[in-house]
Amino acid sequence: MTYQEAKEKLAPAGQEHLLAYYDELTQEQKEGLLEQIDALDLSLLDLIRDGVKEVKKGKLEPLGAVTLDEIATRKESYERLGIEAIKQCKVGAVLLAGGQGTRLGLDKPKGMLNVGIQKELYLFEQLIHNLMEVVKKADAWVPLFVMTSEKNHSDTTTFFKEHDYFGYNKDYVFFFVQEMAPAASYQGKIYLEEKGRLATSPNGNGGWFSSLAKAGLLDTIHRLGVEWLNVFAVDNVLQKIADLVFVGATLDAGCVCGAKVVAKADPNEKVGVLCLEDKKPSIVEYYEMTDEIINSRDAQGKLLYNYGVILNYLFEVKTLQKIMDENMPTHVVEKKIPYLNEDGEVVKPTEPNGYKFETLVLDMIHMMDNCLSFEVVREKEFAPIKNRTGVDSLESARELMKSNGIEL
Ligand code: UTP
Repeated sequence: MTYQEAKEKLAPAGQEHLLAYYDELTQEQKEGLLEQIDALDLSLLDLIRDGVKEVKKGKLEPLGAVTLDEIATRKESYERLGIEAIKQCKVGAVLLAGGQGTRLGLDKPKGMLNVGIQKELYLFEQLIHNLMEVVKKADAWVPLFVMTSEKNHSDTTTFFKEHDYFGYNKDYVFFFVQEMAPAASYQGKIYLEEKGRLATSPNGNGGWFSSLAKAGLLDTIHRLGVEWLNVFAVDNVLQKIADLVFVGATLDAGCVCGAKVVAKADPNEKVGVLCLEDKKPSIVEYYEMTDEIINSRDAQGKLLYNYGVILNYLFEVKTLQKIMDENMPTHVVEKKIPYLNEDGEVVKPTEPNGYKFETLVLDMIHMMDNCLSFEVVREKEFAPIKNRTGVDSLESARELMKSNGIEL
């Protein structure tokens, strides 16, 4: 794209300020900036033009889960099915590690966080340990796809190399980079983060499959015979990955996807609940539900909307390919965005100062015809590290790890 073309693209959208420092840039910086502007999706700004609107949910109905008791009675047969699938390399794992962990405030990838106390134990390392349990049981490697972002790719890949993939077989580890989205002020002006760079951030975890495809990894998936992908977050240190019982149960149910869920601690817990929306599976946030829905119970007194998701999903690859080009909803999120002020100085705000645009993996569930809701024990499988202190923090995760016998 030329300077003139960039101007013509930006002017109608009121974004010409992005070229304010163009003349001061080196040739290389100029090219980088024009490339960014060329790739820029200005339609995102429509989402904030008249204020951010909440998307209306359809008709909600409860969706039961295969409960812990039911799972316990069929554990062996589910596990057998799971082992068979893993042995045939039908299941791959996708580690979502493109986020910025802004709440934790780290300046490196979240997976590099040392969760150990007496010894070093990195988040990435513990996740590999968790996956190794399945590898050992099935006596087969599980392909592991790791999504990074432009911001943390090189740190992440270097870290894995330096630690010799934490004992994993590196031939079964594949990295890919997710896309970025611009960040804008409340007035809808895209920020610059440097004179020659737009402020961008990873575009959410919803684009993982299309990014994986863009990186050419579908060939690898088909070559290896992978038919299912288990997607999981980097920050749940107790995460079971490619869980044999979960895989077996989803296959047995004949569903196109499965979601691990935990029973809510109380009706008002702030989790996304797996239910039906207009007869299709859907994850609905607590703030999208009325009090009446939140508190509704069955004849036995059990909450009807009882199961919260923990960001651990199993998707059928065939179905993912079918929906890959469908539009996903874009969420507009308020964030603290470092930017260049009018005097050309970098400002690091302490309060949110604008919007980022993200798609979310949980919205994929509503694109599926069915979904197995699979209950797990919260204390054994859910220890997310989101915050510096308090709820869902390193401290709380360490306590849970210790109670699960993990040496720290
Ligand atoms: P979160 O929504 O908790 O975001 O991500 P985050 O970036 O880790 O943390 P905050 O909100 O900035 O504090 C849930 C999972 O999705 C991944 C994260 O790495 C984490 O595993 N993710 C998130 C991505 O891979 N890409 C993204 O753009 C956002």
